[in-house]
Amino acid sequence: MKQILDLINAELVRGFETAGYDGSLGRATLSNRPDLCEYQCNGAMAGAKQYKKAPIMIAGDVVAALKDSELFEETAAVTPGFINLKLKKEFVADYLRRMQADPDLSVEKAAHPRTVMIDYGGANVAKPLHVGHLRSAIIGESLKRIGRFMGDKVIGDVHLGDWGLQMGLIITELKKRQPDLPYFQEDFQGEYPAEAPFTIGDLEEIYPAASKKSKEDETYREEALEATALLQQGNRGYRALWQHIMNISVADLKKNYGALNVEFDLWKGESDAQPYIPDMVRRLKDEGYAHEDQGALVVDVKEESDTKEVPPCIILKSDGASLYATTDLATIVERVKLYNPDEILYLTDKRQEMHFIQVFRTARKAGIVGPDVKLRHLGFGTMNGKDGKPFKTREGGVMRLETLIKDIHEEMYRKIMDNHEIDPDEARETARIVGLSAIKYGDLSNQASKDYVFDIDRFTSFEGNTGPYILYTIVRIKSILNKYRESGKNVEEARIAGAVSESEKALMLELCKFNEVMETAYAEIAPHKICSYIYDLANGLNRFYHETKILTEENQEQKASWIALLELTRKVLETCIDLLGFSAPERM
Ligand code: ARG
Repeated sequence: MKQILDLINAELVRGFETAGYDGSLGRATLSNRPDLCEYQCNGAMAGAKQYKKAPIMIAGDVVAALKDSELFEETAAVTPGFINLKLKKEFVADYLRRMQADPDLSVEKAAHPRTVMIDYGGANVAKPLHVGHLRSAIIGESLKRIGRFMGDKVIGDVHLGDWGLQMGLIITELKKRQPDLPYFQEDFQGEYPAEAPFTIGDLEEIYPAASKKSKEDETYREEALEATALLQQGNRGYRALWQHIMNISVADLKKNYGALNVEFDLWKGESDAQPYIPDMVRRLKDEGYAHEDQGALVVDVKEESDTKEVPPCIILKSDGASLYATTDLATIVERVKLYNPDEILYLTDKRQEMHFIQVFRTARKAGIVGPDVKLRHLGFGTMNGKDGKPFKTREGGVMRLETLIKDIHEEMYRKIMDNHEIDPDEARETARIVGLSAIKYGDLSNQASKDYVFDIDRFTSFEGNTGPYILYTIVRIKSILNKYRESGKNVEEARIAGAVSESEKALMLELCKFNEVMETAYAEIAPHKICSYIYDLANGLNRFYHETKILTEENQEQKASWIALLELTRKVLETCIDLLGFSAPERM
């Protein structure tokens, strides 16, 4: 369906042209004085110079031309030359009825779906997920869902950090503890055990222990580096151990991401890019893109228009080792080959911005991607504690994601139990659902690039701009709809009629904006726009609810119309929260 603003603009164009003016002046915006009008057009002011006429005269002519409009109930020319507009109730109701009948709720799907890869999550294998990984997972998951809703083909890839020093550290520590394992016997020819010699609990202890030792003991660190190199060169025993670490870690990560409603299509990682490195490096050298600089192999990527220094992209260190950029470039080679994407979007902390500038420029310059492939990095800000510093545990350590989620659930559970009598088991389940909304909405309602303060107290509140408030509104609607159904009536057959009150009309106009909001949120990769939309919508709904006695209304047609309006609001709200990555309970 066309956006309501496009319909309004088309009518304004007709108005300007009928009155003898340039149609391109006919553009409306949302009114910034909702007490006076719903939309406004400033085209008469813009045309004053061209027509050497007072703007109010032009506005008057246009208003006269729009006298019989099917769209506008009120058109007014006001000094110095604004055109104030109010929409006809029947026009708005008709728009909403079409929206109600549309499975996509008025959103026009992409006519030519693109393939978009989203690289998000970015967990590092064998290291616990910490709050730093939370934002990437939450924002990426939402963008994936939004992209699909808009009709693109979206592939989400977790892109694990599974090839670095942490693997060498674990192997080294294991060798010290259990030197007799077959993985460490050089002449071992047989099959390695199918069962891993450690559990996830062991890994969670082994990695920090090894990491600590490597910082205190230089020889230990050397050993770990050596083990990493051997693993990367294909040492059979180490590869087998690596596979065990992967299996156990990935199962655990799936559980953790699952608890966040985050799902990946691909569980690939840095290791998958390794086979593409040798060829890529050769090509970079042979075709003259890369050159040696103090022993390292680099690609120059600075541009004249740069306002800050962009250092060369390092492809190989002087000892021949590859780096983060090498892996990311080789991953692009793989992605182009296997998935032929139109766009690759990366979600990381904004501190990685320079890394992606270097990688993208190298990829373009060397033709690793064609000119039509869009490479985008969305760098997000830091999640801070109330003290304004990066979020930490009470003891000052890095907060584990599991702990954070548990804290939220506890707080939510407490609030739910405080609120009313409810079976503790049901309260637990509700706390899980509502808690997730608190975390995700708390994050997504901020513009991604900005830092924000993670405030459990505020995020779990049922009032204000929070996830629980949105869910509370949805639950309220569901409860009214259920009562209507219990009275033997059919919600699906109810038909929306013209608004009879100001709060009802305001709610209707809010609903009409849905497709526009979705398009903008996707184009600007901005889930926060969906959050601010559903906050307005929820406020609109609650205002209407408080001013209207819906279930006791005697006139059945009137009642049905309100029910239909509630049902449409519910659908839009539930669609939006699904796109943000959470859901609503039946009761709370
Ligand atoms: N594992 C990385 C980290 O923890 C994030 C990976 C992001 N994706 C990428 N293609 N570089 O910082």
